Amino acid sequence: MSEFAGARVLVTGGAGFIGRRLVTALREQGAEVVVVDQKPHPDPSVHSVVGDLRDPALRAEAVTSGLDAIVHLAAVTSVLRSVEDPAGTYEMNVAVTSGLLELAREREVPRFLFASTNAVTGDVGDARINERMPLRPLTPYGATKAAAEMLLSPYASVYGMQACALRFANVYGPGMGHKDSFVPRLMRAAALGTGVQIYGDGTQLRDYVHVDDVVQAVLVAWRSGHNGPLVVGSGESVSVNDLVKTARDVTGAEIPVEHVPAKQGEMPAVVLDISAARELGYEPRFDLASGMTTVWPDFASMKSGNGGAGSAI
Ligand SMILES: NC(=O)c1ccc[n+]([C@@H]2O[C@H](COP(=O)([O-])OP(=O)(O)OC[C@H]3O[C@@H](n4cnc5c(N)ncnc54)[C@H](O)[C@@H]3O)[C@@H](O)[C@H]2O)c1
Repeated sequence: MSEFAGARVLVTGGAGFIGRRLVTALREQGAEVVVVDQKPHPDPSVHSVVGDLRDPALRAEAVTSGLDAIVHLAAVTSVLRSVEDPAGTYEMNVAVTSGLLELAREREVPRFLFASTNAVTGDVGDARINERMPLRPLTPYGATKAAAEMLLSPYASVYGMQACALRFANVYGPGMGHKDSFVPRLMRAAALGTGVQIYGDGTQLRDYVHVDDVVQAVLVAWRSGHNGPLVVGSGESVSVNDLVKTARDVTGAEIPVEHVPAKQGEMPAVVLDISAARELGYEPRFDLASGMTTVWPDFASMKSGNGGAGSAI
């Protein structure tokens, strides 16, 4: 029997891209999952608390005593939105996290797993990013995730809670039809016969990790009792040009590209050292080609104009 069988877990943002996949995996392992999200979970058999987590009353309703874990995924996830609204991003990504941590402490929830990002480290040139690097975020998104990581720390050291910040790379996989990151843009372009813009010459390196590997990392972190940050990626960086080539191979579409000037703050390289996660038992299972193949079906139906990506789950 799975060690998660009967575990009671609250997943904030559980109706989102990573959340839906995590909820499915936890339920398959026999966990009792409650989702709190501003959108209802698409599966009506999942117990959803629906509302805005910035409302303290909603948080108090969601964080019940008897929970074994909180996986906190809900956030302002768009870097662009964070740049437009740094104060609102602080409210959601820092103040809400602080409120949830306090409720977890008061209600004796023993585990808090937080979705962070490798953007907390900022530009480190082409150095391999590990958990020990200083935090120098470049955007309000990265800064608020770094701040939330700092808030987590004493809940482990003072209050004895497991408090782990999983620093995800660029996550892709099925169910990202509502996202505006580069992989769904490529897929949309392939489906609609349009193209994509690439910032700079496309040689910048990025780590793309499959959503099912991210889910695996959350379960590994839970099982290990790890405290503090954990870098989670595929461990294999690829250039943006490689990504476009893989998307062309997987979709069979031409996907023309237009190179536009790089944005300020664009990182030349994101190369991740995932050895700490590996030591805990994490092993990514998808390479880029096999992973991208799982994304395409959500978008392929757009061709016939029947709703396609918008309705992808
Ligand atoms: N997707 C990635 O590439 C990636 C990379 C690094 C880190 N992360 C982090 O992982 C987490 C999940 O990301 P995702 O890609 O699944 O995002 P997503 O946008 O698909 O899901 C986020 C969910 O949070 C919910 N939410 C947002 N604000 C809320 C509020 N005020 N009240 C209630 N619910 C609210 C949304 O409705 C949504 O369902 C986020 O914390 C994100 O910062 C994601």
